Amino acid sequence: MTRAEILAADVKVEPIKPAVGAVIHADRSQLLSKEVAQLTLRLIEAHGVVVFPCAGLSDQEQQAFTENLGASVNFTKSAPGGNKSESAGYNITLDPKINNEPEYVQGTFFYHMDGMPLANMPPPRASVLSCRKKSPSGGQTEFASTFAAYDALSDEEKAEYAKLRVIHSLVAGVREVKPAEELQPHMRSRKTERPLVWTYPSGRKSLLLGYTADEVLGMPKAEGRALLARLLEWAGQPAFSYRHHWQEGDLVVWDNCGALHRVIPYTANSGRLMHRTSVAGVELAA
Ligand SMILES: [Fe+2]
Repeated sequence: MTRAEILAADVKVEPIKPAVGAVIHADRSQLLSKEVAQLTLRLIEAHGVVVFPCAGLSDQEQQAFTENLGASVNFTKSAPGGNKSESAGYNITLDPKINNEPEYVQGTFFYHMDGMPLANMPPPRASVLSCRKKSPSGGQTEFASTFAAYDALSDEEKAEYAKLRVIHSLVAGVREVKPAEELQPHMRSRKTERPLVWTYPSGRKSLLLGYTADEVLGMPKAEGRALLARLLEWAGQPAFSYRHHWQEGDLVVWDNCGALHRVIPYTANSGRLMHRTSVAGVELAA
């Protein structure tokens, strides 16, 4: 048997819903193989999000898994709990001993795409998240496919939205948590412009949405925000979204420009601890 045949026999893929999500059942020994990396990249573009139940990877193994998907990027060096190294992950926690800016994490209670307001880099291609300690209540992560949301638009809507550009800001991303004037200056300055419709080299298209999306260029503010709110509701409908109930050791990978994510609120004393790594994006044609 060839290596690819052995892998095909050992790895089982099971869709979660027709429009979003897939589970990859693979032996732990296969997870760092190039074949699983290729399969993961293919499946996140097809399904938005993939789950490896109880993968049980260490921080170093998760970093190696991430680098098999592409160059890794650490865009949360300055975030509470962040690490200065480019090849390091980010420990996501509300523990006040580690995190003195909880609004940064509480912003994740609202649908977003990672790194969207950062002007100095393309949005990450994929995010890799594993559960180190789950919360006794809350803490599940919901994903909403903006591939599915785009695919189901009418031809007229697709043509109209293809022309639009959107301002994303961190201030907007945490607007439900803290007013702009109370944020630290480094958070207030994060702002950039992105196309509403994101096009992949394969031709696959998605919508770049989320709470960071603040206004549509060239549109009155209320009209633009109303459009962004409607599209967010559209993407979040049950047929396009999936709620992951974490078990410790689970590893979830998603296409960061094709799936929104948010966490169901949990408390600072829950002990919840997640480890995130990110695959760098490439700037694509608008
Ligand atoms: Fe996130």
